[in-house]
Amino acid sequence: MHFYKLDPYQRRELLKEKGIKLVKIEPEKLARLNQLSENVIGEIDLPLGVVQDVVVNNKSYLVPMAVEEPSVVAAANHGAKVFAKNGGSHVVSKREGIYGQIVLKVDQAFSLEKLAKDFPYYVSLANKEFASLVNHGGGVKEITGEIKGDLVYLKVLVDPAQAMGANKTNSILEFLSNKLVRLPHVREKMFAILSNYPSQFATVKVELTVASVGGMQVAKKIALLSKIGYQDPYRAVTNNKGIMNGVDSILIATGNDYRSVEAACGVFASKSGKYRSLSKWEVVDDKLIGSLTLPLALGVVGGSINSRSDIQQAYSILGEQVSSELLASLIVTVGLANNFAALHAISTKGIQAGHMKLQARNLVANLDASSVEKSKVLKEIIKLKHYSQAQAQEILEKVRKQEEDK
Ligand code: MEV
Repeated sequence: MHFYKLDPYQRRELLKEKGIKLVKIEPEKLARLNQLSENVIGEIDLPLGVVQDVVVNNKSYLVPMAVEEPSVVAAANHGAKVFAKNGGSHVVSKREGIYGQIVLKVDQAFSLEKLAKDFPYYVSLANKEFASLVNHGGGVKEITGEIKGDLVYLKVLVDPAQAMGANKTNSILEFLSNKLVRLPHVREKMFAILSNYPSQFATVKVELTVASVGGMQVAKKIALLSKIGYQDPYRAVTNNKGIMNGVDSILIATGNDYRSVEAACGVFASKSGKYRSLSKWEVVDDKLIGSLTLPLALGVVGGSINSRSDIQQAYSILGEQVSSELLASLIVTVGLANNFAALHAISTKGIQAGHMKLQARNLVANLDASSVEKSKVLKEIIKLKHYSQAQAQEILEKVRKQEEDK
């Protein structure tokens, strides 16, 4: 029997027979996970943390983050605190729709001009067929097209309402392409699938007093780092990684497709023809001004969002009625907060000081020791500032020896 056709227990047995060590899992949990994905044999745990006091457009929110790197949550909190002290962020979040592509092979007699006259007809045809999306406030907005050689590229803009809308958009494209392929002079359908090209933009702006970031020297250093990130792709990609630390953690906590956002942000960072930093920091008079625009095609309903209690928990942290626009506003703000915290650390005491202190927890968690021993090792390793697994083990042995000698 094919592996995917087995139930998860049978799959686990097969793997165990090969000597693979699997973590125990409750049967009910395994059964539930099996409904969510394919070839399921277990689960991955991620810590859920929160960013406190994310002030967006004059309102404060608690924001969930799912990530295994402690410095990411610490950085987000540091940045959000400085933003809050300065009145928080101002965000404009636009959800004009996501793009779908239909590419058709046509013969020479095909006229795009003629087809374009019927685009409004196809828009209304799709909206009639997908009336439930229209009832939820979304629907097909527009179809545009261009022709390159014997290929016609149609771009279909779909407003997914409060969902990310990938499946719905693909169904709409399938529906429309099945009609279009029957037109005279259309030879075949090449593909009909949504595009992850940047759309659904959220733009954040913060104005921080120079005093609140540690003075003019620090502010100018942050602005210079930002300039370097604009010019140098090696720095730009690391700057953007810092932003995605915050973005991905919230996307994962809220059950969103972080792969699509990552792909879109990568393209967006290259929109000038050169890969650049997504954020911008500059000093104007006595203010450090930061801004960031991100393409955030996300949703707050649909997919597995409604069926996963861990995800519902994240929405409860955000507040029951969070909309896709608001979630995008929070994400872009936390992305900028993470970015600010990284640039601030680089401009002052360096990244490693705070980072390694937090990573020390992971080193200590790996020790085969009691919780009392672990906390003693943690204290000592932070004091010594020598962060390695061997060092943690060595300190543990010393701690044990001291206990024995007592
Ligand atoms: C580490 O996860 C992220 C940073 O490297 C980002 C940056 O350098 O801007 C600290």
